[in-house]
Amino acid sequence: MKRSKIRLDKLLSSLGYCSRKEVASLLRSGIITHTDNLYLKSDTKVAHDEIRFDNEPLDPPSKMVILMHKPVGFVCSHDNGEGRLIYDLLPERWRRRNPQISTVGRLDKETSGLLLLTDDGALLHHLTSPKHKVPKIYEATLDRPLKGDEGSIFASGTLMLNGEKTPCLPAKLEVIDPTHVKLEIIEGRYHQVRRMFAAVGNHVSALHRSSFGALTLGDLKEGEYRMLDIDGGDVFEFVSPPDEGEQFVSTECQRQLAIWNKPWE
Ligand code: URA
Repeated sequence: MKRSKIRLDKLLSSLGYCSRKEVASLLRSGIITHTDNLYLKSDTKVAHDEIRFDNEPLDPPSKMVILMHKPVGFVCSHDNGEGRLIYDLLPERWRRRNPQISTVGRLDKETSGLLLLTDDGALLHHLTSPKHKVPKIYEATLDRPLKGDEGSIFASGTLMLNGEKTPCLPAKLEVIDPTHVKLEIIEGRYHQVRRMFAAVGNHVSALHRSSFGALTLGDLKEGEYRMLDIDGGDVFEFVSPPDEGEQFVSTECQRQLAIWNKPWE
């Protein structure tokens, strides 16, 4: 396969290493090199994998997907005024990448768990679109013991959240013990899990997302992240959206169907 080549200054600035102007002085410093020791200028056309920065291969090109274990206390925002940002957990230069890296939906500041980030706008749209109903599993600790009817209320598809016009789609509750549950939802409304429990008279004191589609955190510790490896078999999408009229496709079912077939491209 022919590798695409672009100008060196465009490549490095799009990956956030430096501005286009700065490339010339960095070339003089010797920090940017070519794997075959070719003489480089700012406008030399190069392939991504031919370049080394400080003797290291470059960061992945665009269309990267990052799976992060978000710790409590970090905010899913680009705005520096909002406290510690989940972007602070990534290399500093990644903030200057173009296209920009964004979170796939959000977890609130007090929620931990699986968070996806990508610079692939089409993928982002696909995964957050209500049409695609990607199942997400949350583990919640409750202030008060369950009453017993929460599972059927959540499954009914009739639960109205405060201030909303349409009821929540059916969600699946698994009871671990009277104050610990797993809840699988296929939407991404604002503070949805906390608001669902508020609607049945309870309060969530701790919340953790353990899966997103077919993806789980595996061994990732809080604050750690890894790149998803598309060719190496990381999977998180279902083959096709649920059939018309089919309201709920469980994560287990999706796991079985999962292949990386890039339906968003
Ligand atoms: N539901 C919530 O209440 N908070 C989250 O962060 C995600 C889902």
